[in-house]
Amino acid sequence: MNNPVIEQLSQRRSVRAFTGEPVREDDLDAILRATQQAPTSINGQQTSLLVIRDKQRIARVAEIAGGQPQVAGADVVVVFVMDFNRTAEAAKIAGTEQVVERSAEGIVAGSVDAGIALATFQAAANALGYGSTPIGGIRRNPEQLIEFLELPPRTYPVVAATLGVPDTERMAQVKPRVPLESYAMPERYDADKVANGVAEYDAVLRAWWDAQGLTQMGTYSQDTAKTYSTIYYPTIAASLRAQGFEFTD
Ligand SMILES: Cc1cc2nc3c(=O)[nH]c(=O)nc-3n(C[C@H](O)[C@H](O)[C@H](O)COP(=O)(O)O)c2cc1C
Repeated sequence: MNNPVIEQLSQRRSVRAFTGEPVREDDLDAILRATQQAPTSINGQQTSLLVIRDKQRIARVAEIAGGQPQVAGADVVVVFVMDFNRTAEAAKIAGTEQVVERSAEGIVAGSVDAGIALATFQAAANALGYGSTPIGGIRRNPEQLIEFLELPPRTYPVVAATLGVPDTERMAQVKPRVPLESYAMPERYDADKVANGVAEYDAVLRAWWDAQGLTQMGTYSQDTAKTYSTIYYPTIAASLRAQGFEFTD
């Protein structure tokens, strides 16, 4: 389909190599404004962005995220914070007690909103020729990041994203996905389609990694199974609780 937005979204990929050129101030401003226009649950606007440009501070976030060079090499790092501190200010004005952060619904709603903001941020960044990678690695050490960003109670760093000028010579190819029919299913869930899609995708992704020269990478099944057989970020519940969140109805 010949549509520039569809074309851009279909070509999106994580960009982990940057030239080191700075992101223009007016571009960053436009990206942040576009991101803010994303929808939010009940218009609560329970997301805040922490925009990190100081190189030493970016290096520290990279360290917290497990020493990821793609974070250290970015010109800007944005942390997407679930922010029920803002809505608590509203509750104060309205004279009520806010309890939403002490509910599973609150954590789900706030996390969804942060994810929507991340996707919008990436789309806006790509539209202006920049590259970005989501960084869930910040949840490796959430306590350290909370302290580093001086996050108050009722807030939580859900995910981050890098931003920079892509080094086109070191740019990854677009990564294939599971077959569309096993992803977007008409009317109701089809477990057979999903299972077949996994088997098919194992071969597709294996061939793709090999074509990238990354023969050490596993298949989809091998790599996801390896990660998902562990609780790979083991302090999420504890750090959420320390910030005043509870996962309960
Ligand atoms: C929530 C989230 C967290 C992620 N965390 C990281 C990360 O910490 N480091 C990284 O290099 N990539 C990270 N990624 C990028 C994924 O690895 C990437 O999206 C996936 O492999 C698909 O590749 P593509 O984005 O190039 O299509 C993350 C993606 C998402 C959505």
